[in-house]
Amino acid sequence: MHDHGRLDALGRMEDLPLAYREALAQRNLVPLWPSLRSVLPPGTPGRHTRPVHWPYADIRPLLLQAGTLTPIEKAERRVLVLANPGHGLENMKVSPAMYLGMQLLLPGEKAPAHRHTPNAVRMVVEGEGACTTVDGEKCPMLRGDLILTPTGMWHEHAHEGQAPVIWLDVLDLPLIYYTETSYVVEGPGQEVQPGQGERGYTRGGVVPSPGFERRRTPYPVVRYPWAEVRSALLALASDRPQDEPVQVTYVNPETGEDAQNNLGFHALMLRPGQELRLPPRSPACVFHTIEGAAEVAVGESSFVLDAADTCCAPGYTPVRLRNRHADAPSFLFLADESPLHRKLGVYEVRGH
Ligand SMILES: [Fe+2]
Repeated sequence: MHDHGRLDALGRMEDLPLAYREALAQRNLVPLWPSLRSVLPPGTPGRHTRPVHWPYADIRPLLLQAGTLTPIEKAERRVLVLANPGHGLENMKVSPAMYLGMQLLLPGEKAPAHRHTPNAVRMVVEGEGACTTVDGEKCPMLRGDLILTPTGMWHEHAHEGQAPVIWLDVLDLPLIYYTETSYVVEGPGQEVQPGQGERGYTRGGVVPSPGFERRRTPYPVVRYPWAEVRSALLALASDRPQDEPVQVTYVNPETGEDAQNNLGFHALMLRPGQELRLPPRSPACVFHTIEGAAEVAVGESSFVLDAADTCCAPGYTPVRLRNRHADAPSFLFLADESPLHRKLGVYEVRGH
């Protein structure tokens, strides 16, 4: 992936006398020039992230099998991690900052209250009757709902329904682990508070202000119901030119900022037959089909993303999306590293 361009090749490690290399190593010293082109390549960064497709038809039976092979007490979290081979499967990351896991909760099972430093969201893929309680707010889990469990917030899962529930976890775990700040704390079950945060934010342009007081909490909404997001996309589509992308970003409605600190979350509607070209951007991106099906071309790779399938694209790579349905819209959930890149000052969009 490295384009060395016009720059001259530099001296290699093996060009140095062995005694010199040993003298450096003994003193914890490393010559920069043999590695300079790989850590600072000209033009475009090197990337370990590869385009990868995880069909739900492959994941689902193996995840259900895990339900019979490993009792929940022995797994704690029954998750199959969607690991990018470019990063090494054992490193359990889809991209430098993103972890993806497909999690199974069987009827009657629960995950006790806990909180952790990594920021997490879950996108509900299948099943009914489960709920996640986040900071005292009981959030029902329906297909397509996005539920936040930001850093440090108490959460627990329970399942009172009849059939397995499966969701997609998206965490900034690789980043938090890399910074040596990843840990979890267990706690007692939470007391459920009445009311649901999202109910106050169902209309754009107005926010709750009882007694002229605005909510100053950093996460006023922890559940973004798919029914609301879907309606927003359909309303947007009816109002905008046919060739314009129909896309929304999950935000904190009090501030308009990204819903979480490091990872960005978006929903995109492809009109019947629509083809969209996304420009190369610096952050890696994950695509998950909530409804319908799409062809996804990532650089030289291409996938057919059926309902509940997931794939990823490395940064700096053009992506083309095409709705497989000529007579119905398709809906995709996107997760990316854009908030992190903006904070680092490296966010970049390149022309075609
Ligand atoms: Fe958790």
